[in-house]
Amino acid sequence: MTHSIKFWAVVPAAGVGKRMNADRPKQYLELDGKTVIEHTLLRLLKADVFTAVAVAISKEDPYWPELDVSAHQQVITAAGGKERADSVLSALKSIRELASDNDWVLVHDAARPCITTTDIHHLITSLVNDDVGGILALSSHDTLKNVQGNGIVGTLDRRHIWRALTPQMFRYGLLKSALEAAEGNPAITDEASALELQGLQPKIVEGRPDNIKITRPEDLALAQFYMEHQND
Ligand code: CTP
Ligand code: MG
Repeated sequence: MTHSIKFWAVVPAAGVGKRMNADRPKQYLELDGKTVIEHTLLRLLKADVFTAVAVAISKEDPYWPELDVSAHQQVITAAGGKERADSVLSALKSIRELASDNDWVLVHDAARPCITTTDIHHLITSLVNDDVGGILALSSHDTLKNVQGNGIVGTLDRRHIWRALTPQMFRYGLLKSALEAAEGNPAITDEASALELQGLQPKIVEGRPDNIKITRPEDLALAQFYMEHQND
């Protein structure tokens, strides 16, 4: 009965933002009058498709309870984990009484505040009838090199190389069991890789290039620029 299928968002937000080198985790840095994580969550809520958004937050995080959005009725707080995959699994477990195995889950990094309704709807309409699910991705414009030490040993075939973004969209039951099966495996840096390990082939859906992940200090100004030029 497809009419009863729900959509859930899961937001891993328990990282420390080492590469950002700031005085607090990057999701709490300010961008255009709000913290990064507020932008991210308000944009997910604005897409108007999710029953709830489960957010994984570190135990030692003093910033989260201070934000109004942490008390939003569609926002569920879960414990963070050691690695990103552990945080995602913890958030999935926090909705186990509410979600069905066939429901769709869109996992989206807290550190991607420029996500648009267009991209969320595009991902969902592209995959809603898919058996496995898939991810937003970008092709590479640059030529890509295989490097050992600091010497180039080969050139990759760009037609087969995509950059994995988020949201990544999978069925609740399949995603949870794939992450449980992969627990502790350091190669699992996104949800798709956990499904790949099960022998499945997640689809790619071409995303927008403005859906950047805040990673290094210069990314904040870039995110600000994109936000000023987005109109959806
Ligand atoms: N994340 C998480 N739990 C972890 C590690 C990361 O929920 N144990 C989240 C981050 O908060 C972020 C997303 O996963 O929203 C993507 O991770 P990344 O960009 O690597 O963020 P950090 O790990 O915080 O940054 P860094 O790797 O530079 O330390
Ligand atoms: Mg990290």
